[in-house]
Formats: sequence, C-alpha cells, structure tokens
Amino acid sequence: MRIGVLTGGGDAPGLNAAIRGVARRAFQQGFQVTGIKNGWAGVLGAGDMEDLTSASVRGILPLGGTILGTSRTNPLKEKGGVEQVISLLRGSGVDGLVAIGGDDTLSVAAAMSDGGYPVVGVPKTIDNDLSVTEFCIGFDTAVGVVVEALDRLHTTASAHHRVMVVEVMGRDTGWVAMVGGLAGGADMIIIPEFPAELEAVVEHLRHRRGEGKDFSIIVVAEGVKMRALEPAMAVAAAAEKRDAFGHVQLAKQGVGDALSTRIEEATGFETRVTVLGHLQRGGSPSPVDRIWATRLGVAATDLLADHKAGVIPIRRDGQIAVVPLRDVIAETRKVPRELYDLQLVFD
Ligand code: F6P
Repeated sequence: MRIGVLTGGGDAPGLNAAIRGVARRAFQQGFQVTGIKNGWAGVLGAGDMEDLTSASVRGILPLGGTILGTSRTNPLKEKGGVEQVISLLRGSGVDGLVAIGGDDTLSVAAAMSDGGYPVVGVPKTIDNDLSVTEFCIGFDTAVGVVVEALDRLHTTASAHHRVMVVEVMGRDTGWVAMVGGLAGGADMIIIPEFPAELEAVVEHLRHRRGEGKDFSIIVVAEGVKMRALEPAMAVAAAAEKRDAFGHVQLAKQGVGDALSTRIEEATGFETRVTVLGHLQRGGSPSPVDRIWATRLGVAATDLLADHKAGVIPIRRDGQIAVVPLRDVIAETRKVPRELYDLQLVFD
C-alpha cells in the first residue's frame, strides 16, 4: 500500500510530528509513503511529490513549520479540480491520502471522499475552531506564545502605567485570545463571539484606574468587529487580498492598532499595541501538540490501512474517536459563554 500525506492551509506547530506519525506507522506496516508538496498545489497540474523515507522524517518532531510545505491552494475553485487531484494520485500509485489541515483543507478532503477516493483527515488549526474535536494541532503552542507575551507585557505595562492592547490570531473565533488571555492574566479579552463596544472598553479601563489599577492588558482577537473602530481600520484594503478560500487578511485590518488609538483618544491613558501575528504559528511545538499530533497521525495511517476512509481521528473526552470528515467542518466551534464570563472574576 502507498499512502500520500499533505499539509494544507496555515502552518501550525505540530505538523511535522503528525507527518512523522503517519510515515513511521506506515513504514512499520511495510507501506510506502508519498509526501505531497505545498498542500493541494502538489496534486494539481503535473504534481509535486516525493517519496518519504525513514531518513526524511528523522529529527522533525521538534520542528515547527512543515517539511512538506503548505499553501492555501483550493482545487474546489478549479473546474474539475477534485477529479484532477484524484486522477493524479491514482496515476501516481497513491492508494489513499492523509490530509492534515483545518476547515478549508478538510472541505477538499471531504469532496475527494465524496468522489470515491480514500481520504482520512487530521485536525489542524491554531484557531481551534473545528467542530467535535477537543484538539487541533497548533493551538496549544499558540496559546503558549500568547501567555509568554502577556507575562512580558505585564512588567513593561506596569512600569509605564500604560494600557497594552495585544492583538492575537483568531479569524472567526476567540479561542487563542480567550485561553491565552485567561492563562496570561489579561484584564479584558475581546473576541468575535461576544461583541464589545468601545464605550464598554473605555468604561472598564476608567473603572480600573478608579480602583487604583494603573495599568491594563487587553487581548483582542484579530477577527473582532467593533463599530467605532471601522473608520480607523483598513477593512476595504484587507478585503482586496482574499485567499483562494475567500478569507481576507485580518492582520492587515489592524483591529489592535485601531483599538489602541481610540482608547488613548477616549481616556487619555497612554496606550501601546503589540500584534503577535505569525509568532503564534512559528517555532517548536509544545509537548501537547507533539503527543496528540503523533497519536492522530498514527491513527490516520491505521484507518487507511483498515480501509476506513472519509473519516478523521479526533480527541473526544481525552481519547481518540473517529468521526466522519464532514462532522468536523459542519460548523465553527465557538467559545462558550461560560468560558468568556470567567474573565469577569478577574477584571
Ligand atoms: O486560520 C489560521 C490563521 O492562523 C488565522 O488565525 C489567521 O487569520 C490566518 O490563519 C492567517 O493566515 P496567513 O498565513 O494567510 O497570514
């Protein structure tokens, strides 16, 4: 049997651990492995693939990024794109595919499965917003980056008695902001799920000063929409730069910068902004990301070997469970109110 493996969408720490898990289990079973380069781009046109060997996956467990490369190429946008991918894989002797990715990559995987090709997914997104699964590769490491940044920003904020606005990733949901913000002791966390208005932020900051708290840390997810900020944000310019899945480049909209400017105007408190950006996606994966990426990678190979396709191994109740691919992309998993409200205890 020959198994193909690809990583698609934004990179995330732990992708290499998953590739290694897929490949090492395959070698253990006597299978061959084809590494597909740069996500779906590697199975369009003439294709871009290479055989993986024990040597090519050696030493990659602690590495960030992905040895296969990634892209946001979308075969669903090309006429007959999915059929092309399937026929290239079949023509290359690849019997089944492990697609490691988030909702975009897995939506292509689900379409391939509908088209009759055996595909198994592995959940990845630092946004942590796939349905059903309790684990997505990269989230734990990204939260670690946010927490370290907040620890560092606390000391400088305190020294200068400033407001620090920290913009973190999170396209549609605020998992990184919420969990990173709670773990890093943020004084206010603003996420897309529960829209806040500028007046409430200003009121909160004034209240804190009134209580003698002379600095504040605000974490805001990049996907937050606040009416009062729109004139100061580069919404239109960012919208021009959509990727193949139709997503705008949120970092270019500058919600953190706009928020810090408006806070300073409204309160007179000296305010600074830090945009963590792609630092959250780079570097070595945390132990949690390494272990679960490994477990799910190994499980993905086992599923293909058992001729179970159109499915994805996930974490549920701390264990591996297997669900249909369509289930994890059925909806975007939102931060629940209960977790959001936890910040009120520490404001
Ligand atoms: O979807 C994951 C994510 O990291 C989002 O949080 C962020 O908006 C986006 O990717 C950034 O993508 P790019 O790599 O295109 O800058």
